[in-house]
Amino acid sequence: MAKKRPGVFWSTVLTLVVLYGFMEFVFPYFAMWVAGTDHLLPAPSAFMLIYMALALIASLVYVYSDDEKIREFWAPVLALLREDENRRTIQVRKVLAVVLPLLVGAYLFFQQMPRANPPLESRMQHPTIPGKYEKLRNPYRDPEPGLVRAFMQERNLQGVPEAKAKQMLIQEYVMEGRMLYGKNCVPCHGAKVDGTGLLARGFRLKPANFTDPGTIATLVESYPFWRIQEGGVALPSEASPWDSAMPAWKGQLTDEQIWKIILAEYDLAGVEPRVVGMK
Ligand code: HEC
Repeated sequence: MAKKRPGVFWSTVLTLVVLYGFMEFVFPYFAMWVAGTDHLLPAPSAFMLIYMALALIASLVYVYSDDEKIREFWAPVLALLREDENRRTIQVRKVLAVVLPLLVGAYLFFQQMPRANPPLESRMQHPTIPGKYEKLRNPYRDPEPGLVRAFMQERNLQGVPEAKAKQMLIQEYVMEGRMLYGKNCVPCHGAKVDGTGLLARGFRLKPANFTDPGTIATLVESYPFWRIQEGGVALPSEASPWDSAMPAWKGQLTDEQIWKIILAEYDLAGVEPRVVGMK
């Protein structure tokens, strides 16, 4: 067993580590100098991969050029796996048996872990609404006199002033909307409409927080109507990166139900929709 000098195996490993270190830590300075920029230019990962793969192939070609080198290259590996029975080797085996699965586990964990930091590309939160939705308005925010009168008939409210009855009717729509919201939207958008439902943590692109002045308060009501009907799949590419988990509700909820949910959503969030022109 070659114990004195590093041996073919370890010198190969060392060469690869040095090359990797060069690419990772020295190359960005070199690239910055060549390109004349004032910030570091790290090597793109695809380039790194090709470079390291070539370095590995070159090392193996070198090792496999000679029978003696092949034997020497594999000697430490074979010794660790089966031949050597001295105490240190046995200890190394034990340590590896623990450390390797931990390393693989940690790698996978950090790969999969949802990250809180925003992506480099900027995401457009509110892409343009499709034309056919633009003109829609919420029929329940300011119900027609006909609806109010029917409601008064139904509830025997003849003595009540019409304006008051209208407020009661709207309140009724809001309550219906709240029920529907509670049934369908709470798991993601949360009971307090702040985007902290039970499922919310699982999504990289967080469910919208309706109390945030940057969401529904900046929008005309037809906008959430579009978003609720068509969901995340209908978002154009400007709204990437990160796929939206917002479901499309058009098969599940009627237009009327969606308008009532919207009414409730603004009500729960304590904000008013943006109004264009006169109402
Ligand atoms: C599976 C989780 C989930 C459920 C259930 C869900 N949403 Fe969403 N919703 C999201 C996510 C994630 C976003 C943010 C990404 C986006 O804009 O598509 C979002 C965005 C929205 C937006 C856009 C807000 C904005 O500022 O553009 C509206 C409106 C909305 N949801 C309403 C609802 C309503 C109403 C319901 C119930 C009928 C509902 N959502 C159910 C996950 C969900």
